[in-house]
Amino acid sequence: MKRFALATVSTLAVAAGSSVLAEPEAEVLHWWTSGGEAKSVAVLQEEFASNGGTWTDMPVAGGGGDAAMTALRARVLSGNAPTAVQLKGPAIQEWYEEGVLADISGVAEAEGWAEVLPASIAGHMKCEGTWCAAPVNVHRVDWIWANADVLAANGIEMPTTWDEFNAAAVKLMDAGVIPLAHGGQSWQDATVFEAVLLGIGGPEFYQKALVDLDPEALTSDTMVQVFDQMRTMRGFVDENFSGRDWNLATAMVMNGEAAFQIMGDWAKGEFLAAGKTPGEDFLCASTPGDGYLYNVDSFAMFSVDGDDKKAGQELLAKLIVAPNFQKVFNLNKGSIPARTDVALDDFDICANLSAEEMGSTSAAGSLLPSYAHGMALRGSQSGAITDVVTAHFNSDMSSADAVQQLADAVANSY
Ligand code: GAL
Repeated sequence: MKRFALATVSTLAVAAGSSVLAEPEAEVLHWWTSGGEAKSVAVLQEEFASNGGTWTDMPVAGGGGDAAMTALRARVLSGNAPTAVQLKGPAIQEWYEEGVLADISGVAEAEGWAEVLPASIAGHMKCEGTWCAAPVNVHRVDWIWANADVLAANGIEMPTTWDEFNAAAVKLMDAGVIPLAHGGQSWQDATVFEAVLLGIGGPEFYQKALVDLDPEALTSDTMVQVFDQMRTMRGFVDENFSGRDWNLATAMVMNGEAAFQIMGDWAKGEFLAAGKTPGEDFLCASTPGDGYLYNVDSFAMFSVDGDDKKAGQELLAKLIVAPNFQKVFNLNKGSIPARTDVALDDFDICANLSAEEMGSTSAAGSLLPSYAHGMALRGSQSGAITDVVTAHFNSDMSSADAVQQLADAVANSY
């Protein structure tokens, strides 16, 4: 085993021009701590170990990664960056601008990443032409999950419009079922908000409002309607929603306490880890309206000293994009592979629907980056929007006031 490990490492180290005796090691900062997430990251730990790597785990609990990003900043400021970090979207380029990322172009070129990744995903992984991150998957954010038995018992179909959703929710409330399982944490509010905004405004409006930050879109009547729908949905959550973790909200759908959850397909990872079957125990559909909100998880390597750590970064980057990991990890995680050459035969109906709609929306120009999951904007900009969304959801603020605050917050962010 050990000899095999060293042989693999030596080949890698030679390829990268570093010491042949390096033994790969990596301290990995991530926020994958729920049942489905932990099962998924274990796949990477095992592959790393079986290729001779020594993994030091640095999990920072907190869905959406806000706490992990705070921990990262503290580590980098103290001059002790982790070797590999779950990082995504424009945050990758923001860290690159601070001069603290390692260049992994050697691995990317040797492994032919440019040939197997869609250009849109590759673009997120590059910093001024060099490769600075390795993509793990494509999560779709605009999903609605449902308990199949609860819907059947109440004569409800998966909603295809927001009016249908509202009507179903009222019916469920009358029957004593919580319509919407939600966790009152700002990133979860933002997750629901962007799905509602895409559904009500459509893909072009989403692009203008949450990608281009166009003041006209931000202050439009459509935006007022989006906040109106958020207010309506506030009436569909139970009174204990505040602070609840997203996976506990998923559990409410699983056990029939609630009917629906609006959440990215990491929720499917929870259903699967609990032994539930899509199409039988739970249902998946895109939230009402057109478009597809993508969220690509990736790992960036930070500049570190020492051949062992550098060999660890190279090995990790190589394994992450390799076909076997992309398949096994994503079967657990609920997402689909970032590579285009991994067959989806073993994937479930939700994953196949995701892949199909990723293709069709890409062709139609409605494949859009998730703002709530850090794919569309710089951190200060998305943070400014989320603060308003959360303040509105948790108060009796009018939609008109929310729109005004949104425009002001965006204007003052950079
Ligand atoms: C997302 C991340 C997913 C999942 C989710 C909940 O931002 O991309 O992989 O972990 O947060 O923690």
